[in-house]
Amino acid sequence: MNILKLTFVLTAMALSSVSAIAQKGFKEVKPGEIWPDDKNEHIQAHGGGIIKRGNTYYWFGEDRRKNNLVNTRYVGCYSSKDLVNWKFRGQVFKASTLEGIREGTLILERPKVFYNEKNRKYVMYMHLDSAKYKFARVGVAVSDKVDGEYKFVKSFRPLGLESRDIGQFIDDDGSAYLVFESRPTKGFYIAKLSDDYMDVEKQVAFISAPLEGGAIVHYGGLYYAIGSALTSWNPNPNKYATATSLAGPWSEFKDIAPPETNTYSSQSTMMIKVAGTKGTTVVFMADQWKPKTHWDSRYLWMPLEIGNGKLWLPKPQPWMLNVKTGEWKNSNAKK
Ligand code: GAL
Repeated sequence: MNILKLTFVLTAMALSSVSAIAQKGFKEVKPGEIWPDDKNEHIQAHGGGIIKRGNTYYWFGEDRRKNNLVNTRYVGCYSSKDLVNWKFRGQVFKASTLEGIREGTLILERPKVFYNEKNRKYVMYMHLDSAKYKFARVGVAVSDKVDGEYKFVKSFRPLGLESRDIGQFIDDDGSAYLVFESRPTKGFYIAKLSDDYMDVEKQVAFISAPLEGGAIVHYGGLYYAIGSALTSWNPNPNKYATATSLAGPWSEFKDIAPPETNTYSSQSTMMIKVAGTKGTTVVFMADQWKPKTHWDSRYLWMPLEIGNGKLWLPKPQPWMLNVKTGEWKNSNAKK
């Protein structure tokens, strides 16, 4: 090797190790692409929700894999320490027939799991419905272990109201809320869960707007709520409102992205706040549904530009997250 070549190789090595240091702790998310789990299979946690226990995140959602039994609905559970690399923990809930649903297909959507400190139980809420979405209830199932087999307990209409899309919100003080969409009155109810989480205790707010896919985050002293219009599996411009208190009053709803992109072909399911040693990132979690090939539906996760009452979803592109520091950056950004 001549001296020129040697210099070139050494410089390249030095540069790549600098870039490895710059990337240390950062893991890449690729919005809209196949998201492989530890078994190299596309993650099945659609319409999902995430909780953190210790330093581990658990992602629950609709497991719509192709080889699931016909007319059986599954909830998939995944775990991760970095929110990017996910280990499949199993199908933690399976439903084929349930009380009250006799008519045709059983629908189980948007499962969300809460951990009840007092009873040390994991309590799963899910949207349960019949073929034509007339049942409109929540189902509750319980497990002693986060990835154990959840046992069905009951179904009910929260506050006696029709409930379809559900969302979960856990405030900074640990209080747990169920967000549910009410078609007859058009809007989101935010309801505080009872002590044992087996029921809703009381209505905290009703946000009047024809929206579903409700997601809430508490950031910088304000509450932000996102919802999507009622267009079934078709994407639409998702919108957000803010309030200084969960009880409201809530502001008008505004676009979270250029409306012509239909939220980059996605629908909201949750926002997750990643608070680290150097900053806080709020990640928008959404589904890019493929109604004819549901198992292939994709996830659009992007950090939001958020603060002072404003919220904006940047154009999706590969990005990197560091859960320890709470920082994120575009993968293509200059080091
Ligand atoms: C969407 C809803 C989904 C599913 C779908 C069925 O609007 O967000 O969770 O219920 O409608 O058409």
